[in-house]
Amino acid sequence: MSEDLIIDCDTGSDDAIALLVGALHPGLNLIAITTVAGNCPVDVTTLNTLKVLESAEISGVPVYRGAEGPLVGPAIDRSPGWPQDLDLPEPSITAEPQHAVDFLVETLTSAETPITIAAVGPLTNLALAFRMRPGIVSKIGRLAIMGGGISVANISASAEANIFWDPEAADVVFRAGVPIELFPLDATHMAPVTSDDVARWAEAGTPAALTAAAFLPERIHMYESRMPVEGGGAPVHDALAVGALVDPDLVRFERANVEIELHGTLTRGRTVVDQRPHLFLASQPKNARVAVWADRQRFLDFLTEIFHAQESGDH
Ligand code: RIB
Ligand code: CA
Repeated sequence: MSEDLIIDCDTGSDDAIALLVGALHPGLNLIAITTVAGNCPVDVTTLNTLKVLESAEISGVPVYRGAEGPLVGPAIDRSPGWPQDLDLPEPSITAEPQHAVDFLVETLTSAETPITIAAVGPLTNLALAFRMRPGIVSKIGRLAIMGGGISVANISASAEANIFWDPEAADVVFRAGVPIELFPLDATHMAPVTSDDVARWAEAGTPAALTAAAFLPERIHMYESRMPVEGGGAPVHDALAVGALVDPDLVRFERANVEIELHGTLTRGRTVVDQRPHLFLASQPKNARVAVWADRQRFLDFLTEIFHAQESGDH
């Protein structure tokens, strides 16, 4: 039986690949997508989400537009020059009228079996939902979060974007007592995708592969020219987090205590990952499984299978 999944995202070219994995993998039953401001304003993340679904010929997955900005402080200041609109046709489908946070509260409250959530943008929607109805945390079977870094950062010298863009929300979520699987930059940077990989997928000619091929080359160019990673190409962070829900061997986990730095002038938004083995000195019990390593070849094979199988009906 496949696992009921909600993806909370700020689509975004790597979120887009995560959506394709969530919608097409037979082990996952993507029941809804909620959007949040992050990579772009929420209207754009919502539009991008709708574009991806329609372009990849994925139907029956409702999209709920969520929070417009962080819990505290000014609206998100995105990386200058980073592309916002995905280069895909305008969609004919639209988002649901209900707000994402109301949807999350209502759906989790009435859930009879646990629901898995993959949160791959700022954690604003989840934090608001947890504040509105704290009891819903018991309905979450697993919470996969793409965010943070142990020794890798991107948006500042200390922090990763999803956490930096709403540190207070991340703090609420990490303290909520939910079973968290964290996918930090340290792991996602180990599994980049190259132009050759994208070209191979495009040869499959499936709607999902052609959708990915429409925007990944720009992402790869941005990474290779502005923030190169070892092995070339570009990480597709969010897709690793969703993929590991069904193939945990894509990564290696270690248990750790993760807390969010809220005050540091230079370190605000940093995930402080305490991996010390000696509990007697650690201030808090371990609250997360943290992916500390990723298997790049296994991840590429995993994505290839998803892109190739769509047309044949294997998935
Ligand atoms: O830092 C990478 C993360 O920030 C990814 O989820 C990307 O989509 C952006 O949200
Ligand atoms: Ca994202």
